[in-house]
Amino acid sequence: MINIVGISGSLRKGSYNSALLRSAVALMPVRAELRVASIRDIGLYDGDVEATEGVPAPVAALKDTVAAADGLLLVTPEYNNSIPGVFKNAIDWMSRPPADIPRVFGGRPAALIGASPGAFGTILSQNAWLPVLRTLGMRMWSEGRLMVSRAPSVFAADGTLADAKIEDALRKFLEGFIGFVESTRREQ
Ligand code: FNR
Repeated sequence: MINIVGISGSLRKGSYNSALLRSAVALMPVRAELRVASIRDIGLYDGDVEATEGVPAPVAALKDTVAAADGLLLVTPEYNNSIPGVFKNAIDWMSRPPADIPRVFGGRPAALIGASPGAFGTILSQNAWLPVLRTLGMRMWSEGRLMVSRAPSVFAADGTLADAKIEDALRKFLEGFIGFVESTRREQ
């Protein structure tokens, strides 16, 4: 069984990105499992805290969760045409100490999706993640793309997907990503 961890970059109850992640859980190929992990308990990065106390427990726990997974799915909102600080902060904490980056991120397959009420569906935020994922040494899967635009018309009030085309695109995206994860496992 392929084991993927998914993280939404929004803390909002009614988050479109968290709704997209929940939809992905339901649409995963049967040979894979997508587990949702949260950044909610991760505080702001503070180098003094790191120097005196080390990496906080919620950060260490999320690092271990990612390290144990076959791949990482980042579901990213877009703020001011870039990565939301809340999400970047979590990944920054998880990149400490740098000597642990290879264990947590190095060579691990990663994919990006995102949802926004606007017309461009997080394209600039997704692009902004690329140098971050490269810096962390992740294997970015780029053969599929999913930008969910006009999110209020894509999700029903209960957060379920209400757009057959997006559902189909999400299913295909996940199938492609899992195929990629499998191909990297065969290499090992
Ligand atoms: C936004 N939003 C937004 N949307 C977008 O498509 N491009 C953008 O540059 C921005 N900028 C932006 C800045 C800030 C500070 C906020 C709070 C919001 C709107 C954003 O896409 C919308 O709030 C989404 O609903 C956020 O994602 P969740 O919380 O629904 O997952």
